[in-house]
Formats: sequence, C-alpha cells, structure tokens
Amino acid sequence: MSDKKKVAILVSGGGSNMVALVESMQGDHPARPCLVLSNDAEAGGLKKAAAAGIATAAVDHRPFKGDRAAFEAELVKPILESGADIVCLAGFMRVLTAGFVGHFQGRMLNIHPSLLPKYKGLHTHARALEAGDSEHGCTVHEVTPALDDGPILGQARVPVLAGDTAETLAARILVQEHRLYPEVLRRFAGGDRSPVYLQG
Ligand code: GRF
Repeated sequence: MSDKKKVAILVSGGGSNMVALVESMQGDHPARPCLVLSNDAEAGGLKKAAAAGIATAAVDHRPFKGDRAAFEAELVKPILESGADIVCLAGFMRVLTAGFVGHFQGRMLNIHPSLLPKYKGLHTHARALEAGDSEHGCTVHEVTPALDDGPILGQARVPVLAGDTAETLAARILVQEHRLYPEVLRRFAGGDRSPVYLQG
C-alpha cells in the first residue's frame, strides 16, 4: 500500500460504482481503497465494502437537519483519518459545500449520469428522453464547489433506443459507468488527467 494512492469512496446507496472501483484497484493499479463512507448507515454499499474487507464508516446527515456545515464537519473526519489521497463520490446523493470541497479540490471525483454539461442535477434520464436526445451517457469530473460542473475527466456515450424508458436507459448507462469510472481513476491516480471517451 505504501506506494499506492489511497482512495476513499463515498456512497449513499447500493454502491455498484464503488464495487467496480474496488474491483479495479488490484495488481499494478496505482491506487487502493482505504475507506467506504456513507451518509446512510443502512446503505447497501457499506455491507458490500465490509464484505470486501474495506474499512467503512457512516455519518447520518439527518440529525443535522439541513445544517450542511455541521454535517460535513463530521463527514470529513473519517476521510482525513483514513489518509485518503483521492476521494471518489460514487452514487453519493448529498450536495457538498465549498467548505468540504476545499479539503479535497483537485483530488475529488464524481460520476454523474449525463453527458455534462447537459442535465446537471437529478432525473437526467427522463430529461434526455423528454428532450428527444439521440444519445445519452455519463461523465466523470473533478468536483468543484459548483454542482456537477468541474473539469471533465471522462465520458461514455450510449444511443437512446426506441421504446427506452428512464429505467432502461439508466440500466444501460450504469453498465458504462462501471467501465468509465475505473478507467478514469486508474489514469487519475497515475497522474494522467487526459480525458477518457468511451462508446457504449
Ligand atoms: C448511478 O446512476 C450514478 O450515476 C449516480 O448514482 C446512481 C447509483 O450509483 N451517481 P451506485 O449504484 O450507488 O454506484
């Protein structure tokens, strides 16, 4: 682990992207997972991480009743204690303030299910269908204080098919997320920020 970058992964749900990242960090990969952290103690991703022998932690956001700074002051502690060099948001569903981002700017990544800068925010698949887009996809970007807005490190595109629903489109894109995020992390951990473009 000494010469490897340490990666903390933040999840809110099932953590399928976390699993893909963890499974990719083997052999000559320049990074290793050091922590999986969630805002939900019941998140399925925590159970999967523990089963993989990875340290886990949870900081429930609900007791903070919308006081983002107070929540983030607790959330940041396990990440700092883990010694993480890189932070990956992977299905993490809390908006982070500039204060939190400031701890990790330049070394925090996020995956977003759209071809940014299109469709920042939520319900991206429904919005792409509503717009009649012929293609859709996912983006890995560096996290900056502006939501879903940092430098793009990779994108994967899929065609929108006749009869697609938000669910079928999301499922097809999730497959591409699991290809894209590991590839971007491998390069990023090796010091290469050149964007990755994949076609699904
Ligand atoms: C994925 O669609 C991802 O794009 C979004 O959260 C969803 C669930 O991700 N950020 P995961 O299965 O919890 O990794």
